[in-house]
Amino acid sequence: MMRSILKNASRSLSSVPRRKYSSVLPPGRKVVVLGAAGGIGQPLSLLMKLNPLVSSLSLYDIAGTPGVVADISHVSTRTEVVGYMGEENLGKALEGADLVIIPAGVPRKPGMTRDDLFNINAGIVKGLCTAIAKYCPHALVNVISNPVNSTVPIASEVFKKAGTYDERRLFGVTTLDVVRAKTFYAGKTKVGDAGISGGSINSYKAVNVPVVGGHAGITILPLFSQATPKANLSDEEIIALTKRTQDGGTEVVEAKAGKGSATLSMAYAGAIFADACLQGLNGVPNVVKCSFVQSNITELPFFASKVRLGKNGVEEVLGLGPVSDYEKQGLQALIPELKSSIEKGIKFANQS
Ligand SMILES: NC(=O)c1ccc[n+]([C@@H]2O[C@H](COP(=O)([O-])OP(=O)(O)OC[C@H]3O[C@@H](n4cnc5c(N)ncnc54)[C@H](O)[C@@H]3O)[C@@H](O)[C@H]2O)c1
Repeated sequence: MMRSILKNASRSLSSVPRRKYSSVLPPGRKVVVLGAAGGIGQPLSLLMKLNPLVSSLSLYDIAGTPGVVADISHVSTRTEVVGYMGEENLGKALEGADLVIIPAGVPRKPGMTRDDLFNINAGIVKGLCTAIAKYCPHALVNVISNPVNSTVPIASEVFKKAGTYDERRLFGVTTLDVVRAKTFYAGKTKVGDAGISGGSINSYKAVNVPVVGGHAGITILPLFSQATPKANLSDEEIIALTKRTQDGGTEVVEAKAGKGSATLSMAYAGAIFADACLQGLNGVPNVVKCSFVQSNITELPFFASKVRLGKNGVEEVLGLGPVSDYEKQGLQALIPELKSSIEKGIKFANQS
């Protein structure tokens, strides 16, 4: 009886038309999250556990990792999760990494600027990058820890000193600025709603706004003149959207009233950017995202703009494209502040 059921089942299965799968599966990637037990680290680690491109997820923090690992490891995806706690285990956490994401450090409290975090976070990023240079010098590095305008230059100096610097592999994560600009633009113009009434819940995905410059206050410069789909906005509306994008982080810090800064939206943004990096590593063509990278599109050594991602990280830093007079003014205004944040990071890395 049982045999005939099995026979029938196998016959009916063999009569089902087979779907064709590509014979070349993308390689499994090892992703490391440094600061994995934090406000950003936890949801970001969960999102990386859900990413089919990740086969191995290594979660590191100075405290609290075992609980996060036990929790996330029960999520039913193929990604293997391993946790490490304490500096003595940092090397093991990093070995063999394809991509390292750094959300380690302290977040802002109301009244603080990102630069106020410098004294603590600069040292944390420096220490973690020293270990990256030693244990996984070829990994792509996504720096989330603030102030990004200074922590990315710090990372570059650490890698230069160690002789491992490859400018194509170092990224400051500015994706949250793009996510905010897209959301505020779509909310104001309703351009994202067309698809919803047409039946697609993903219509916001078609909305895009490049954000250039850096990742703090006026150094965040959304280019609404290049936003797609196009919408007619007045000058006042563009000024208001620009300001809201620049102050988006502060909006969250104030609403959380001392309990931290953006964590959930940052995890979402960090996961989008990490996924783009992995797609690039896997050879997917035309993966373009904004990021704060080594750049020569302005006089500054680091600048956020659109970059094309590839098998070695940054394949091409794309130019700014046509900008409006208002954006030109914003660009001129941000240069001195961004310059001094970059110099502060370089100085710190070489003095301490
Ligand atoms: N790039 C962005 O757009 C963006 C957005 C929001 C927040 N941030 C920044 O991200 C960072 C983290 O924010 P959060 O809200 O997750 O903070 P959090 O305090 O909740 O978490 C930080 C985690 O880092 C860990 N940590 C501290 N020192 C460490 C070290 N040496 N090695 C490993 N882990 C270490 C802590 O134990 C903690 O678990 C902050 O610097 C914040 O300003 C960046």
